[in-house]
Amino acid sequence: MEQDVLAKFKELFGGEGDIGVYFAPGRVNMIGEHTDYNGGHVFPCALTIGTYGVVRKREDHKLRFYSMNFEELGILEASIDDLKPEKDADWTNYPKGVIWAFGEKGMKVDSGMDLLLFGNIPNGSGLSSSASVEVLTGYILKSLYGFDVTNQDLALIGQYSENHFNGVNCGIMDQFAIAMGKQGHAIFLDTATLDYTYAPIKLENAKIVISCSNKKRGLGDSKYNERRSECETALAELQQVVGINSLGDLTEEQFEQYKSAIKDEVRVKRAKHAVYENQRTMKAVEALKNNDVKLFGELMNASHVSLRDDYEVTGVELDTLVEEAWKIDGVIGSRMTGAGFGGCTVSIVKDEAVDTFIEEVGKAYKDKIGYAADFYVVEIGDGPRKLA
Ligand code: GLA
Repeated sequence: MEQDVLAKFKELFGGEGDIGVYFAPGRVNMIGEHTDYNGGHVFPCALTIGTYGVVRKREDHKLRFYSMNFEELGILEASIDDLKPEKDADWTNYPKGVIWAFGEKGMKVDSGMDLLLFGNIPNGSGLSSSASVEVLTGYILKSLYGFDVTNQDLALIGQYSENHFNGVNCGIMDQFAIAMGKQGHAIFLDTATLDYTYAPIKLENAKIVISCSNKKRGLGDSKYNERRSECETALAELQQVVGINSLGDLTEEQFEQYKSAIKDEVRVKRAKHAVYENQRTMKAVEALKNNDVKLFGELMNASHVSLRDDYEVTGVELDTLVEEAWKIDGVIGSRMTGAGFGGCTVSIVKDEAVDTFIEEVGKAYKDKIGYAADFYVVEIGDGPRKLA
């Protein structure tokens, strides 16, 4: 892969000078969905698939971008003196946003660069291809221009650019999971404090299988921002009767005690999900610590039901994938992962059931939805790094 992206870079931009090859992973969230902007816990991990970047600094102020995933767009140009989001700039709004965000934080880039990307994360799958590009860009800027930033800073800068340059009010989970990824481990992150611990994922005789619905979604045109503001309104209503900073501060019992303060049935459901999902995530991590993978799986299943019925972010595609998965012997747990409204599901499947899983879920999905799903058996990998 490194050789392929390097060869393409040289073909397009020439082979002279100092050329670097970098990588940042994608991520999958095991449990703790739509909790990260509610002061709750999440439990994601970085993957071994992700985004490759080949880069060389320029003498002038020009930025030249090329993606091997969107070859039809050709080379897209911009300038470090005029960084603003533009519709025609397409995917380059992500690296541009990060360069802009560094500037906002007092780290001005003083020369341009040529950047070629290739991602082997399926586009729009909900495995955070955009956050992968953001963290990759940040890591490249740090290496190329010598900025003094930690990987955690890269996560925050990536989120800042997504929120303020690309207009998506996302939480910190994706960028954090990618910037802080560790092989074989998931990250148990408290999004209220950014305290985190690494938990080894030891699945004896089982695999993590991602089922991709191939229903494309973009956070910007989804109901993501709407869910977020529903939760904010519910929090403000609860704060009239109980002193909390976020929905993540409540236990299930406290929620039941105070929920009548929320003046709308839909908002009660949204807030209920945020509270219960946070508690489920803590229980799931505890279960894993006790080697109780069965309980972990049951909590994953409960997470999906809550996202389907209370948070209402699943849809027929994700529900079909999960409900068909539940029917298969050897499936320990299955749920949608990421923002929802399309994207993919994550399942823990016993080794001997993986082939049956892919065949049967695949067939049932195609019969019901009319087009095929894709399946990936994934491994948990490290965070961003320089390859060459
Ligand atoms: C998207 C966002 C994350 C998080 C998830 C839902 O992936 O980028 O911040 O809110 O949705 O858990």
